[in-house]
Amino acid sequence: MPGKEKMVIVGGSPLEGEVHVSGGKNTSVAVIPATLLCDEPCTIENLPDIDDVRALVDILRSLGAVVDYEPGEFMKVDPRPANGYQVGYRDAQRLRASYYLIGALLGRQGRAEVAFPGGCKIGQRPIDQHLKGFNALGAETDERGGTIIAEAEELNGSDVFFDMVTVGGTINVMLAACKAMGTTVLHNAAKEPHIVDLANFLNSMGANVRGAGTDLIRIKGTPYLHGSTYAVIPDQIETGTLMIAAAATHGDVVITGCIPTHMEALSAKLLEMGVRVTDSDDAIRVRISSAHRAVNVKTQVYPGFPTDLQQPMSALLTTAHGTSIIQETIFESRFKHMDELIRMGAQIRVVDRTAIIEGVPQLLGAPVTATDLRAGAALLVAGLMAKGETEIYEPEYIDRGYEHIEKKLRALGASIRRESIES
Ligand code: EPZ
Repeated sequence: MPGKEKMVIVGGSPLEGEVHVSGGKNTSVAVIPATLLCDEPCTIENLPDIDDVRALVDILRSLGAVVDYEPGEFMKVDPRPANGYQVGYRDAQRLRASYYLIGALLGRQGRAEVAFPGGCKIGQRPIDQHLKGFNALGAETDERGGTIIAEAEELNGSDVFFDMVTVGGTINVMLAACKAMGTTVLHNAAKEPHIVDLANFLNSMGANVRGAGTDLIRIKGTPYLHGSTYAVIPDQIETGTLMIAAAATHGDVVITGCIPTHMEALSAKLLEMGVRVTDSDDAIRVRISSAHRAVNVKTQVYPGFPTDLQQPMSALLTTAHGTSIIQETIFESRFKHMDELIRMGAQIRVVDRTAIIEGVPQLLGAPVTATDLRAGAALLVAGLMAKGETEIYEPEYIDRGYEHIEKKLRALGASIRRESIES
């Protein structure tokens, strides 16, 4: 169903000034379901006010939890009255992370019926590894009518060997394992910052999760989890998108409230291009002194170059001097935005999971359409760097992962606004 609004950007002005990064989307969508494992009320802070967070508020309330959500302030969750175990199609489709309710509900009450999740169409995105983990803990799982059904009389700790590194699988099985009897060991676990953040939140409730951030995570089941007040980490991908936008507009931007060590793969790549990146404790300054050089990018699991930054990065590379090659190794269909960049004058050839980008002097504004969240971010960067006006249709995708992004960019000097589309 076409969206009701478009984003309009008049590009060409350098971004300059200071911007504060919001709390992380991918950590928030794991920590919020995790509150269902608690036996007392919890308070979560620093949550970004984005559609994915609001969707999870609705889902927790539909399960019976009492949620007091003050956007930009806090979210208080009292899970005690939550005795629901079903998440229907409409709710589950609103975001990818709705499937974390399976692990949380299994851990909480041994039963979950959750419709298949939504999320960005960047590949087939099966959940076989999640189900393999739940089965290892003793849960019966089935899929009927587009709904995942998981049940367990009791969960028992076990070894789980993931066939590939999966962020969602690691998180989902970690949630269920927190309440399993005995010890669970996750092998070949994902190491993303938001996995460490989730482990820290679980441990703040009295759980026993060790090794998060490495590929071996040990979880000792804990029958009772006490309340906690916890602030989620800043958003690694928003930080990276803002860094890329600063470089792409030949600006000078200080991004505050971020964690520079989470950004090392991108910072190294930008330095390789000739961009000036300066870290301090909780801020990163990005400036560009001269033209930026073409580089090669290969997406990898953390701490490699994040697949979520591949799309915004491709916009920056369209005007780099020389030929850049992007290899997308994580998802099989994450280049849909390349056609839109070509409409803006980019010279890109896609062969399977490789994109070859010949640098051009400048992009030109054009009407384009976002096809997923980070494709939208790529078009946002392209619109900021292009000469003339760019209209981005389906900007709702961007709202799923970037809090108040227009306000932040306007404060840095961008000409960006929302307009309704005449019906
Ligand atoms: C999470 O997706 C993120 N989403 C994605 O961010 C991110 O791109 C991805 O991790 C990788 O970092 C959230 O955290 C909500 P995976 P997820 O399981 O968990 C395959 C964004 O823009 N796989 O690590 O779905 C899978 O198909 C979003 O914020 C299986 O085959 O990613 C993919 O090819 C987009 N079977 C690869 O593994 C499984 O059971 C990595 O997927 C699970 C995964």
